[in-house]
Parts: sequence; C-alpha cells; structure tokens
Amino acid sequence: MPMSKKFEERLFPHLPAIAREFKTPFHVYDEIGIEETGERLKNAFAGCLGFCEYFAVKALPNPAILSIMHRLGFGFDCSSKIELELAREAGATPKEIMFTSNNTTQDEFRAAQADGGCVINLDDVSLIAKVPEPFPEIICFRLNPGKERTGNSIIGEPEKAKYGITWDQLISAYRMANKRGETKFGLHTMVCSNERNYQYMVETVRMLLRATLILHQELGICLSFVNMGGGIGIPYIPGEHEEFDIEKLGQECELLFSNFAEDHNWLPKLYMESGRYMTGPHGVLVSRAINRKDIYQTHIGVDAGMPALMRPAMYNAYHHITVLDRDGKSRGTEQGTEIVNIVGSICENCDRLATDRELPKIQVGEGKGDFIVTHDTGAHGIAMGFNYNGRTRPKELLLRRNGTVELIRRAETDNDLRATLRFEPKTLTL
Ligand SMILES: Cc1ncc(COP(=O)(O)O)c(C=O)c1O
Repeated sequence: MPMSKKFEERLFPHLPAIAREFKTPFHVYDEIGIEETGERLKNAFAGCLGFCEYFAVKALPNPAILSIMHRLGFGFDCSSKIELELAREAGATPKEIMFTSNNTTQDEFRAAQADGGCVINLDDVSLIAKVPEPFPEIICFRLNPGKERTGNSIIGEPEKAKYGITWDQLISAYRMANKRGETKFGLHTMVCSNERNYQYMVETVRMLLRATLILHQELGICLSFVNMGGGIGIPYIPGEHEEFDIEKLGQECELLFSNFAEDHNWLPKLYMESGRYMTGPHGVLVSRAINRKDIYQTHIGVDAGMPALMRPAMYNAYHHITVLDRDGKSRGTEQGTEIVNIVGSICENCDRLATDRELPKIQVGEGKGDFIVTHDTGAHGIAMGFNYNGRTRPKELLLRRNGTVELIRRAETDNDLRATLRFEPKTLTL
C-alpha cells in the first residue's frame, strides 16, 4: 500500500491547520514512519555482522532527514560535492560516507578526499589514475554485470547502462588500484530500481560474493565489504504489488554470508544504500485544486507540478492520490466520481501528477479548493524537480514524532531563480 493508515491518521486531521500556517504546496515527511522503517531494516539484517545502510542522499537531500538517518546509525551514499557536504554536516565520519559518482572530475575526487576523506567507489578503470594523491585508504569498484542480469524500466538494461566496470575488467581494475598502492578494497553494484522481488537482491548479493571469491583467488584480495546498492522497491499502486520482503532478504543474506565464512574463514561486511525504501512512502505532496478545465478531457489544475514531482513525467510513474475537502475530510464518492488529469502549470503536456485517474468529484478554488494529496513522494521527489518556465520547487515540512510540524526547507522564490543572473560582467573579444 502507498501511505500507511497511521501516517494518514497523523496527518490528515491537521492538514487544514498546516495549510493555513505554511500554505500549499508542500512535501511533508513523517519522522515516525522513517524511524520505524530504519529500525525494521536494521532488525532484518541483524544476523549479518557489520551490516550498514548508507542512505542514498540523492533520494531526499535534506539535513533534517539526514540527521534522522545518522541517529539510526546509517552512513551516506553521496554522488556529488554538495551531497558530501550535507553528509559531513550530518555528522558522518569518513567511513560512513561512500562516494559513488560517475563521469567524475578531479575536483570532485578532491572534495571526496577532503575532511578526512571517505570510501571512494570508482565507476571506471580510467578513473584510477584520476584520483589525486594521497590515494584513499579504501577503494571500491562498481560492477556492471552486463547481460548476466536484467534491469528494469527505471534503470534500464545493465549492458546498455553507463555505469560500472565489466566482468572482463574486474581483475585488471583491482590490480591497477593495487599498483597505485591500494590494499583495502570493497565491491559495489546497483542493477535494479524499485524492485519488489527480494529474490532479485539475493541474486545480486550472490553475484557479489562470487566476484569476491574471484578477486581472492586471482589477486589474493580479501574484500572489506560488498555493497548491494539501492533499488529496493515500494508498492506505489494500492493492492497491486506485494511489499518487498526485507526480512526474507536479511535471512537469505545471513545464510549466504555464514556459508561463505564457513567455507573460507573470512568474510566481507554487507552494505546497502537504499533511498526509496527508507523514505519513499513516508512523504506526500500536498497541493490544492485551483482550476477545472473541461475540454476533451477534464483537467484539474493544482498549485504544484513537475518542479515538485518529476516521476510521473519522467517514468510515467503512478502516484496514488487522495482527495480531501477543505476541512481535511476524505472526499467520498457520494457526489460521484470522474476521470481526470491532475495537472500543473508548466508548458509541457507531461506536467501531471495523474493521468486518466478516477477520483471523487473535486472542488476547485484558490486557497479554498480540495487538497490533492499525492502519495509516496518521500524519495526522488523534490530532489528531481526542475525550474522550467521559471516555476519553483515547494517547501518541505517534517511531521515530528512529538506532533509538531517543522519547516525544513523553504520554498524557492523567483529571487532564487534570478540569483544566477547576478554576476560580474565578463566578455571575451575575439
Ligand atoms: C548509486 C546509487 N545508489 C543508491 C541509489 C538509491 O536507489 P533507491 O532509492 O532506488 O534505493 C541510487 C539511485 O539512483 C543510485 O544511483
């Protein structure tokens, strides 16, 4: 199911008051839900010694969220300089940060190596020579298994993806890093996105352990860790998909690792870098219906769109929608339902939160229209938003465990968009 009943109960009765105080649109995240998911993840992997989740900062790069993750004992998967900064500001130590970038510049490597450094995950053999001195204490490579694994619609087929090194490059990559003086290594992969079948991830871990053995046999390397990446899915569509069985994944990993330890007398640690699983269901986008347009189809215009949530436009992704009246009561179907598109204001036809969706009859009106609550926006939501048409991203709120609601990011303003138009004049005469 999308948004849990408990999150609904914590949020919906207070929506009119929250909207009065903060004004729509906003994303609001549920601290209790995030913490419960974090505890569940830790329990599921309690049998895997040294297990660590490195929260994928790109999923929800907000300091208030990162500090919840840090309290849970999680590290951070970062892919850019600003993500590294946010992770460090959240209190992460060098070992608690993995820098998984691609098409990386030397400047980015320097940022990764600053402040005591972090674990650097290399996306290509050509990057080994690019890492500045002093060479990091621990180096990792991202393996792209190519044809061996099927990807899915979000991440694409591994063979056609731009990420990682091939099986054929595996040994030479570690040998080259070893030549630069490296002795401590990890291995990473990320082959799926929004995958709800836990068996798929078991196969990923099995594949990583196979590569671990190859490296040990060929080069005598004992990997410090294997990182199965992110990609654990959440059920966006009510009733249609089974929930990902995190406990089964934990149990099967425990078995794989204890067999490995028994056979070989040593063991890499197991890492994961989930984003969506951790925060996806614990956020919603709250917007208001402001316009109705009846043409060939009915379009309900809301005060949010692609800047707040790109996933429907980018992936044709389904996000469940609940309609609440201005008093925060769930709109029933007594007054009938209608098939509508929920649209934003951008001059792109894909600027939608929902297409051909059967919803209760919606009342529109600026500042007084129905609340349109779009579920599962807690991961890869606001972070993906853009500013086409000079439209701005909304604010973010956090519903705290103690029942308070905190502004954790203000909305973008037109002034923010103008910021890049204020610069020192510079002209090159040719
Ligand atoms: C390298 C890497 N790790 C982790 C993640 C997080 O993925 P998810 O949010 O699907 O768990 C991503 C997502 O794009 C990624 O690129």
